[in-house]
Amino acid sequence: MILEAQNLHVYYGLSHVLQGVDLSLEEGETLCLMGRNGMGKSTTLKALAGVIKPKHGKVTLKGRDITGKQPHQIARAGMGYVPEERRVFPNLTVIDNLTMGAKPPAGDGKNQVLWDVERVFRHFPRLAERCNNKGANLSGGEQQMLAIARALMGNPDVLLVDEPSEGLAPIMVLEVRDILAEINKSGVSVLLVDHNLEMAMSLAHKVCLMGKGRTGYFDTAEALQKHPEILAKYLEV
Ligand SMILES: Nc1ncnc2c1ncn2[C@@H]1O[C@H](COP(=O)(O)OP(=O)(O)O)[C@@H](O)[C@H]1O
Ligand SMILES: [Mg+2]
Repeated sequence: MILEAQNLHVYYGLSHVLQGVDLSLEEGETLCLMGRNGMGKSTTLKALAGVIKPKHGKVTLKGRDITGKQPHQIARAGMGYVPEERRVFPNLTVIDNLTMGAKPPAGDGKNQVLWDVERVFRHFPRLAERCNNKGANLSGGEQQMLAIARALMGNPDVLLVDEPSEGLAPIMVLEVRDILAEINKSGVSVLLVDHNLEMAMSLAHKVCLMGKGRTGYFDTAEALQKHPEILAKYLEV
């Protein structure tokens, strides 16, 4: 297991938002975390990335306990995180946004193809075309790609992506989906949160469905396809 969370509990003030989240991401796989609005998906990713501290529970990355560590320590240990609010630097060009995210891999990088600007541009031709444009002048879809690409420049072993298809035109959703598939094939394990069921199911090896503050169902995407009633229970409003 490359990333594992056990029994995470998170509070916002007195509000007990995560009440027992368990997740396991197998090396090389894509795990999709799904559930209705407000169930705690974004909070789960924040807790994994160290942006908020869980009150109870344990997170391990490549077998190392990273519970309660700072975001930069977790990033250095091999986790990339693309939050919902794609944080691209509006006044920096695409190239400068990318180089700001550059970081050597957590391990020795021996068996890894490393990400640099050139490799990013091969995977994201749209960003190559816009390389000298400022972040602020990109479309929503291009900003999403830039946010993902910048996280890749940190050479993560695991990439967490929160709602990448949100607000994107259908054609861009397809592009983002293809990029996430390529990234996963290139060896990065992916934990994806997204509302777009078609996109999520086409990328997922495993699916985890979340109820209020808790993870519930967990199985292969293949197994879940045979049980539309489970999807309906967790996803329909
Ligand atoms: N900063 C915050 N302070 C207080 N409550 C929050 C905060 N962020 C999220 N919440 C609450 O925590 C719950 C889970 O939110 P979130 O993790 O964003 O859910 P999801 O991503 O599944 O839509 C919701 O009830 C939300 O209102
Ligand atoms: Mg969310």
